Amino acid sequence: MISCIVSSCLYIVGTLIGVVAGLVLLTRLYYQSKRPSTYTIGFFHPYCAAGGGGERVLWCAVKAIQESYPDANCLVYTGDTISDDEIFNKINNTFMIELKRKNIEFIRLTKRKYVEDSLYPVFTLLGQSLGSMILGMEALSKCNPHVYIDTMGYAFTYPIFRILGGSKVACYVHYPIVSSDMIVKVANQQNLTLKRKIFSNVKLVYYKIFAIIYRLVGNLSQLVFVNGTWTGNHISTLWKRTFKKDVILLYPPVDVSSRIALPLNWQKRKNMVLSIAQFRPEKDHMLQLLTLDHLLKTHPQHKKDLELVMVGSCRGEEDRGRVEQLEKKIKELGLEKNVRICVGVSAQELNDLFAQASVGIHTMWCEHFGIGVVELMAGGLIPVAHDSAGPKEDIVLPGTGFLATTKEQYANYIHEIIANKPKYADMQKAARESTNRFSETTFIQQFKNHIKLIIDYKSKNIKKDQ
Ligand SMILES: *[C@@H]1O[C@H](CO)[C@@H](O)[C@H](O)[C@H]1NC(C)=O
Ligand SMILES: *[C@@H]1O[C@H](CO)[C@@H](O)[C@H](O)[C@H]1NC(C)=O
Ligand SMILES: *[C@@H]1O[C@H](CO)[C@@H](O)[C@H](O)[C@H]1NC(C)=O
Ligand SMILES: *[C@@H]1O[C@H](CO)[C@@H](O)[C@H](O)[C@H]1NC(C)=O
Repeated sequence: MISCIVSSCLYIVGTLIGVVAGLVLLTRLYYQSKRPSTYTIGFFHPYCAAGGGGERVLWCAVKAIQESYPDANCLVYTGDTISDDEIFNKINNTFMIELKRKNIEFIRLTKRKYVEDSLYPVFTLLGQSLGSMILGMEALSKCNPHVYIDTMGYAFTYPIFRILGGSKVACYVHYPIVSSDMIVKVANQQNLTLKRKIFSNVKLVYYKIFAIIYRLVGNLSQLVFVNGTWTGNHISTLWKRTFKKDVILLYPPVDVSSRIALPLNWQKRKNMVLSIAQFRPEKDHMLQLLTLDHLLKTHPQHKKDLELVMVGSCRGEEDRGRVEQLEKKIKELGLEKNVRICVGVSAQELNDLFAQASVGIHTMWCEHFGIGVVELMAGGLIPVAHDSAGPKEDIVLPGTGFLATTKEQYANYIHEIIANKPKYADMQKAARESTNRFSETTFIQQFKNHIKLIIDYKSKNIKKDQ
């Protein structure tokens, strides 16, 4: 009797699996038959007209493909409705990247609203992920590329292109959708009421299941780039891959051309410490003031020549409030002559400050990256940055600056630099040179080196070295 039930269950399950597999196969045959005859590389970037760092990555990747495979076609799947001309003007004006227009085609997606988080007040992660599958289906049905590259982190689209489309899949990850930090944070909550406890357990299970699915879809990507060590560590853990082997560290290109153009001029630089950071609480400007206070107390001779310049912008009332607090603290400590706060300076003024200052200070704890520190180094300043996360793991290599956590350490390093200036000319050069790792050229070269491993195609008129 029981064996009879078991065998009929097995039969039903077997049949279902068979039917699904058959349907998948048919769908794939259908989509592959519709694949364009020109070798096609599709970039999934629904917000391609935005002008942020993620878009610079996209356009540099497109440029790399155009250089390596001049007769392949690049598609960009986007939900933006502005015209092709407007997008190209944006690329040219914002990023100054010149692309060959004739091999680029925009595939317009109409279902972008399904990936917007405002659509999902609860279960946002799940909602957005399923939404991205709808968007991915729309993209696949409009064109099935030979190689699919996701540059916005929509991992749930990988099964669509890999399994249904039969494409090669690669991705560039800026940020994991779910992070192991989130899981640890929820798991460690203590002293909760019973109701909150149940809620938090449900959330934990939700995150854990989600992490498993995230791993399954992530497994389908045949080439994984991450934008930094922090992201790399998380993705390697979540997707069970080896960092720097199956997960490739490829820094996003940072435009530092205006800083690199400044003269190094080490001996002539002032005893000026420059800070560039929005006036947000996590940037910890207060630590900079305390550092200066400590430095001037231990080395009063610098009272006449040391200046700390804090450049930043304010996003709103709260940031402005913070600036007022800083100003109060400056009075309290009697540092009026030694600190300048500059809110909203022009590009020219900022460049002048970069040319005059000798030390760059960064105080944010656990910043994932820290583009500001790269800029300081490129501008010829010696960085004294926070000894954590991005600055520590990605940016300030030994011999190119200093890492600190307490005001005493910060003050000591700054004093050491300005008191022994001639000794640090080499470090200034090394710091600037090391920012080459974040240049557009390096990005494009490395992208080419890795992408060629999954591209089974040779352009007819390709140059040998590419
Ligand atoms: C890009 O902009 C520059 C000036 O900013 C202009 O000279 C050039 O023609 C533009 N290129 C394209 C393709 O629009
Ligand atoms: C990677 O992307 C995340 C999210 O945009 C960002 O916070 C982080 O600073 C980036 N890391 C690097 C190395 O640019
Ligand atoms: C939890 O509550 C106990 C007693 O109410 C208290 O002693 C303890 O410090 C609390 N722990 C946390 C992490 O808040
Ligand atoms: C995908 O998962 C399988 C099974 O766990 C594993 O053997 C394989 O190495 C994974 N592939 C990648 C690219 O991580």
